[in-house]
Amino acid sequence: MRTETPPTVRLDDYRPSDHLIDRVELDIRLDPHDTRVTARLALRPNPAGRPGAPLILDGDDLRLVAVALDGQPLAPAAFRVAPSALTIPAPPQEPFTLTIETCLDPTANTRLMGLYRSNGVYCTQCEADGFRRITYFLDRPDVMSVYTTRIEAQGRETPVLLGNGNPVEAGPVEGSDRHYAVWHDPHPKPAYLFALVGGRLDRVAKSFTTMEGRAVELAVYVEPGKAARADYALAAVERSMLWDEQVFGRAYDLDVFNVVAVSDFNMGAMENKGLNIFNDKYVLASPETATDADYAAIEAIIAHEYFHNWSGNRVTCRDWFQLCLKEGLTVFRDQEFSSDMRSRDVHRIGEVRTLRARQFPEDAGPLAHPVRPTQYAEINNFYTATVYEKGAEIVRMLRTLIGEADFRAGMDRYFSDNDGTAATVEDFLRAFEAVTGRDLSRFAAWYERPGTPRVAVSGTYDAIAKTYRLAFRQTRPGAGADAPPLVIPIRLGLVGAEGPMQGPASARVSRGVFVLEAAEDSLTFENVEAEPVPSLFRGFSAPVRVDIALDDAARLTLLRCDEDGFNRWEAAQRVALRIMTAAIRGEAEGGPGAEALAAALGRFLDAEALRDPAFAALVLSLPSEGDLADEIGAEIDPDAIFRARLDLRRSLGAHLGERLHALRAAVEEPAGTPFSPDATSAGRRALRNAALDLIAAADPEAGTRLARAQIAAATNMTDRLAGLATLALLPGEIREAELAAFAERYADEPLVLDKWFAIQAAIPEAGTVERVRRLQSHPAFAMTNPNRVRSLLGSFGLANPTQFNRVDGAGYALVAETVLTLDRTNPQVAARLMTAFGSWRRLEGGRRDAAEAALRRIRATAGLSRDVADIVGRSLDG
Ligand code: TRP
Ligand code: ZN
Repeated sequence: MRTETPPTVRLDDYRPSDHLIDRVELDIRLDPHDTRVTARLALRPNPAGRPGAPLILDGDDLRLVAVALDGQPLAPAAFRVAPSALTIPAPPQEPFTLTIETCLDPTANTRLMGLYRSNGVYCTQCEADGFRRITYFLDRPDVMSVYTTRIEAQGRETPVLLGNGNPVEAGPVEGSDRHYAVWHDPHPKPAYLFALVGGRLDRVAKSFTTMEGRAVELAVYVEPGKAARADYALAAVERSMLWDEQVFGRAYDLDVFNVVAVSDFNMGAMENKGLNIFNDKYVLASPETATDADYAAIEAIIAHEYFHNWSGNRVTCRDWFQLCLKEGLTVFRDQEFSSDMRSRDVHRIGEVRTLRARQFPEDAGPLAHPVRPTQYAEINNFYTATVYEKGAEIVRMLRTLIGEADFRAGMDRYFSDNDGTAATVEDFLRAFEAVTGRDLSRFAAWYERPGTPRVAVSGTYDAIAKTYRLAFRQTRPGAGADAPPLVIPIRLGLVGAEGPMQGPASARVSRGVFVLEAAEDSLTFENVEAEPVPSLFRGFSAPVRVDIALDDAARLTLLRCDEDGFNRWEAAQRVALRIMTAAIRGEAEGGPGAEALAAALGRFLDAEALRDPAFAALVLSLPSEGDLADEIGAEIDPDAIFRARLDLRRSLGAHLGERLHALRAAVEEPAGTPFSPDATSAGRRALRNAALDLIAAADPEAGTRLARAQIAAATNMTDRLAGLATLALLPGEIREAELAAFAERYADEPLVLDKWFAIQAAIPEAGTVERVRRLQSHPAFAMTNPNRVRSLLGSFGLANPTQFNRVDGAGYALVAETVLTLDRTNPQVAARLMTAFGSWRRLEGGRRDAAEAALRRIRATAGLSRDVADIVGRSLDG
């Protein structure tokens, strides 16, 4: 449905459904163009609803074939039907059965919501409101039903038939070339967790026995011929199940757990009960095709979707405003899992980088919204970094505040009190209040208030009294002076020239945490023998910006001596940021600062690079262009940012040159070492490639030589792609030849060509707009495939600040055109692409005007989807 002014849904308007559906029996006869769905719904009035209310079932683009009540065809006067609703004005006041037959065309479904075909495979995507594209239903998460699904299809084209829950029976359909399978899911669930799959698929499987002794068959299904690439995902499922038992005491609750990879998918993956459906990018992995980052993402997303079985499925959301209840919590759980599987400090740094790259800008721009929004026009636009990543940070802060033991007790309480129900954020917090006896009502403000808080800190040392006082002041952008302060856990400590100071203490600090609850507060450490350097927000204990006047020398002390890995990394980042912002602001004081940073990094590398290469690689990676834009905050000039960053990379590369070459040799795997995606091996590759980046910045000739040699010798995609990414920044024939060779080598590998599209779309040169336009007609590119669109246009809009923000507006025009074209077939992905414009107000004047003009042209286009209309409207008015 296309509409110009979308109606707004408000949290305050929530009321329970007037009807409930206890059981759903579906009979789905799959056909490429004429799929028939018969739904038998066991309905009854909801005691908590309005007595005598009409029954209004949601629909989206549906065609009704027949409808019967308790087996009798409904008289035409007894109902009204439209593609968007089936209404029975006077339904029975006691339980009744409604049988509805609808038909749909999965092949024509380009939105990839509801039932569609991906490379010939039938699959579904129902969150948030796609089930209503399959049958008329009460498509809201607080209506939970037990589903039995019979799936029927042609046997040869569609040999595999999968549904939610457990397999019940299967067999041929007599007298035809068709067959069927029946699945039953005993756990009541909302419609958004419904799924089915039908197709020709290969399978890898493994059995698992839960801590409760239940035997579970784990299986991953992929395109024929790709089974070998599914082994890593299957092993990740097994690790996830074991971890959730060990760390959260949560066991799996069905006889089978299936994961299916499909190539056309709007997002990353989906946690349908017992039948997770994945974007194949987050399942398929082989050394030749997947980078270390891909392996890590597969492990994390497999875990994320599996963890939803408890945080999302067993306990679901009352309404979509509570989305963070499942997403923020599940991101927190997958972060903890990955930290346990890999290196905790390294993973935490990655989490914070993501938060700052995606959530901070969102929170500072026109699309800012609370972690629990209070209204929406299109719910699909609220699957955001704020709901997911900031949502996870709130759970993390809660754990920091109450401690690990109480946190686990509160989680147990949350699961047991709310099992089988559709819950709210209040229910979540109530569980922790129950086990701790604390009042969390003020903490709850984190869910309500948009914007990234700032905490200003000043430290004063009294050499005579031997005390050190830290004074804190919190503010929130856009908040009035009378806005109630947030509860901010600050993990902290003091550091001296030799390392962490153990003696000093303050009564206000317990378990290493000071809680800032007032607008202003301070604390004093006693017995401080020498002026310390404060190490604040250790482990990034709250999602805030910190203002503190620490000079480079103090920060470099933290890099050298802090016990907190996150703050060591952060210290080097802050120094680099200061040097680059000074250069951008024309305070050309960069020289000595850069030398001091290089010297400190040199000492750091000598002492530690080989002990923890993954961490060293992060320390060597400068803040991104986005980090710099975020730091500058207004009148942003992406070209100036790019130059400042290039200058510092050059300068560090020049100072550290010898060391970087030596390090590359020291961490190189001996020839013939078999590839392993484990975190330690990946860390060595990361360090080699971080070194390569700096070498190439300072010495393009050496960079070209090394990158080419690395590509020629590469035994895995990480090294090959890093070589190509280095060349991407070095214009010339060699680059073009290597790009061409890469395309030829992987001509039949769409997921690898995505990397090739992405690298080229991110080239920071004036020719890139033209290059991207050319690539749009490359045979491997397809507007119908979200991965292709994100790789080419998403990378251009989000990973190429200088060219997307071209002064002449050509970058904006390219993305705007694509959005408008895509909006006709897949509004959800078109709306995502639009978020590239999310920071337009913070740009310098000329670019700001050009971006605004592009946004206004989009807004003026007739027939925009609700998805794009919502984003463009909020971008301009927000
Ligand atoms: N719930 C999914 C997750 O795990 C994401 C999701 C929401 C999604 N809506 C979707 C995936 C639509 C694909 C398409 O985060
Ligand atoms: Zn999720």
